[in-house]
Amino acid sequence: MSDFVYVDGRGLDTDAAYRLIIGCVTPRPVAWITTVDAQGRVNAAPFSSYNYVSTSPPMVAVNIATRAGAVKDTARNIQASGEFVVNVATEACMDLMHRCGEDYAPDVSEADALGIELLPSRQVAPPRIAVTPVQMECRLDQAVVLGRGVNTLYIGEVVAFHLSPQVYDGQRIDSVKLRPIARLGGPYYAGLGEIFHRPMLQRPPGGEGWAGSTFSPSIDKKDLA
Ligand SMILES: Cc1cc2nc3c(=O)[nH]c(=O)nc-3n(C[C@H](O)[C@H](O)[C@H](O)COP(=O)(O)O)c2cc1C
Repeated sequence: MSDFVYVDGRGLDTDAAYRLIIGCVTPRPVAWITTVDAQGRVNAAPFSSYNYVSTSPPMVAVNIATRAGAVKDTARNIQASGEFVVNVATEACMDLMHRCGEDYAPDVSEADALGIELLPSRQVAPPRIAVTPVQMECRLDQAVVLGRGVNTLYIGEVVAFHLSPQVYDGQRIDSVKLRPIARLGGPYYAGLGEIFHRPMLQRPPGGEGWAGSTFSPSIDKKDLA
């Protein structure tokens, strides 16, 4: 016997599924993504359905939903240009980042409207957000339309990292100095709480003895019995 609430995920409507999944998958890092539209306007918007998904080469993925059936500006720009920059959101820029989540008209640049200071990128057209200490220039690798078509997963190769010496010592990024912000369920964010240490139990990828796996081609759902 259990007093757990059971929810059948099959056929859940989008709103109910959203409410549940953002509470289940938490905390989430926030990618503050810059893109450029066909007129050269700089768009900036936050996304927390985001993570790294590959190290060889480095890749990140972000899920962008449609808004009332229409493609969001960030998705439109990525589709058209194949380029975006992930600026890592931190405590210092939380409020500015949060305001970029507002629904600005497609022809309005959040960067202009909010006076966001930008820095040029080296390999892609979208600029970087100066107030963030870590920025990743990305080139679209693939866009995967998911499920019923509301969500599309944009997978990008990180073609350049920009790392502030305030958080990077040449080897590692110091998470405490970075002060990343996390998105929780509902209108909540969190900073780093207590930090726990445990010894590493495996060699990191690329370490000696890690020859790379020969296992496992990609699996498509339609190929499963
Ligand atoms: C912290 C935060 C995280 C968000 N994460 C996502 C997300 O992962 N996917 C998404 O489609 N929208 C997400 N949003 C909403 C978008 O930021 C919002 O729809 C924004 O207006 C999109 O801007 P754009 O049309 O300029 O691309 C998030 C908003 C906030 C404040």
